[in-house]
Amino acid sequence: MLNPTSIATRTDHEGLHVPAELDASLRARQAWISPKFLYDPLGSKLFEAICELPEYYPTRTEAAIFAAHGAEIAQTVGPGCTLIDLGAGNCAKAASLFPLLRPAQYVPIDISAEFLQDAVGRLQQRFRHIEMQALGMDLSGPLTLPDSVRASRRLFFYPGSSIGNFNPDEARDFLQRVHAQCGQDGGILIGIDLAKDHKVLDAAYDDALGVTAAFNLNVLNHVNRLLGADFDIRGWRHRGFYNADERRVEMHLEAKSAQLVTWRGGSRRFAQGEWIHTENSHKYRQSDAVGLLEQSGFAASRVWTDPDGWFAVIHARALSH
Ligand code: TRP
Repeated sequence: MLNPTSIATRTDHEGLHVPAELDASLRARQAWISPKFLYDPLGSKLFEAICELPEYYPTRTEAAIFAAHGAEIAQTVGPGCTLIDLGAGNCAKAASLFPLLRPAQYVPIDISAEFLQDAVGRLQQRFRHIEMQALGMDLSGPLTLPDSVRASRRLFFYPGSSIGNFNPDEARDFLQRVHAQCGQDGGILIGIDLAKDHKVLDAAYDDALGVTAAFNLNVLNHVNRLLGADFDIRGWRHRGFYNADERRVEMHLEAKSAQLVTWRGGSRRFAQGEWIHTENSHKYRQSDAVGLLEQSGFAASRVWTDPDGWFAVIHARALSH
């Protein structure tokens, strides 16, 4: 049994030169901050809180699909897989499926390495018979897995519609990289949020309690630490809304007033009303979601949805190379 506390952080930010990457994105004509910086320890907790909000339907809709169709999903997948959890967070989603999927090995991957390590430590106590290996990795980098991850029967688990945080071209690239790691008899179990009425989406990404606003604004706290920047959180406002033409929710931070922000090695003036882009969340039609998987080397075998057709869980087998 591998020691779950010896988390591998080998690719955590390695070679990415975080300050240079952030410096460049803050200087860009349209300033932006990579969404991966949303997930510092506080950001990961705020995202957990978002998942509890009445307006944020994706998490509970996906959970309802697993509750209604779990047995069928497990039958499609078969027992004894190596479950590779992409963006595992607190590992709760995968853990809730252990009794159904009965994986032989569990490999959670997340950029928020400390947060993941805590979660996996607790999980290994509850499921002692499952071999666990946590990896602190940035999924925007190469997806190379250590030899300790079994090469056959790999099931990549990518819930929560995180795929929507890539634009469609990037999503295809990412799925192709996943496909390349599938090995013998591999596959993917993915959750994809579907296009729907803009009112539902607007509320989900700009909730009444302001938790989503806090989550988005917290990225500035993280940037302040990473870059030695002096963003004043109170000077910024959360914006989250559905752009129907692009079929995506856009998240931005808007400057409440003109301001100068400085950081190690740089500075920028922001005009009142200027935006920093933080994330997109693309919504798919079911047929487009299946098409995306097929273009990436998978054969979409099964699709499960909720009665409203808001969210889809898809299992697809990796075609051999
Ligand atoms: N992956 C989540 C989503 O697209 C992330 C998210 C939810 C998010 N709310 C947000 C990102 C607000 C930035 C701001 O649903």
